Amino acid sequence: MKHTVTICFANNKGGSGKSTTCSNVGAALAARGYRVLLLDGDMQCNLSLSFLDEDAVLEYARSDRNLYYAVKEQKDLKAFIVQTPFENVDLIPSSTLMSSMEYELFTKWQREFILRKLLKSVKESAQYDFILMDAPPTLGGWVMNLLCASDHLIIPVEASPWGLFGLANMFEFLQTTQEMAPDLGLLGIVITKVDERKSYFKQTKEFLENLEDISVFSTHIHVDSTVEWAQDNSKPVVQYRKSSRSAREYMALTEEILSALSFS
Ligand SMILES: Nc1ncnc2c1ncn2[C@@H]1O[C@H](COP(=O)(O)OP(=O)(O)OP(=O)(O)O)[C@@H](O)[C@H]1O
Ligand SMILES: [Mg+2]
Repeated sequence: MKHTVTICFANNKGGSGKSTTCSNVGAALAARGYRVLLLDGDMQCNLSLSFLDEDAVLEYARSDRNLYYAVKEQKDLKAFIVQTPFENVDLIPSSTLMSSMEYELFTKWQREFILRKLLKSVKESAQYDFILMDAPPTLGGWVMNLLCASDHLIIPVEASPWGLFGLANMFEFLQTTQEMAPDLGLLGIVITKVDERKSYFKQTKEFLENLEDISVFSTHIHVDSTVEWAQDNSKPVVQYRKSSRSAREYMALTEEILSALSFS
């Protein structure tokens, strides 16, 4: 039996499609029959909002049943897992207090590895095929925790004038993290929010494809208003409207991810 695969979606550039990609790859894996656990690592709670309605997300955020509390108190994560309305998709919700995470981590022993330690029993139970993590748009001790707890990183990059700005910092941060967590690898970059009428897409694609030793997924995610409709309905787009362009693209991206991981 394969072990639980952990993937973090991170990019310090805000609005690059991390939460949308994490939620939809998660939902697409679940639709393929894989058991998925999602970790919402961002105070914006966008991953949680992709699966649960606002009231439920606020309730988790205000209670102690969230990832922030678990890490702050160093509790085993098993007790923090909640079910979503979607088959095969479980979630550990976030909290708006997650903004204090850097402060909480500061005084802790081996602070880069706290999440990895708290996730150990969930991983070892083999209850899930995949654990997907959504990172906030920052680079610091908390994102390092998310990466140190991951086998793979996927970087969503927006095809926009500022989409590539700061990417060098992301790569540098990855390298530093790999010194502590040498098994962590960059699975690939996914280009998001593509509008082919604009030149940014071509520029972004050319730039990324010219980077040495970095794979760029051949599936690109186009701008599609269905993504926002789905989010407004607390559903990933692959559940909300399977026939939409973005849903089909996210299903295709998921197939690419599975084959990069030698799953199919
Ligand atoms: N394919 C798409 N088509 C249209 N809108 C999209 C698409 N992908 C993402 N969006 C929208 O772009 C915005 C940013 O996306 P998302 O929240 O996934 O990015 P993020 O990287 O997680 O942002 P942050 O850095 O704030 O966490 C959201 O409002 C989302 O609805
Ligand atoms: Mg996000």
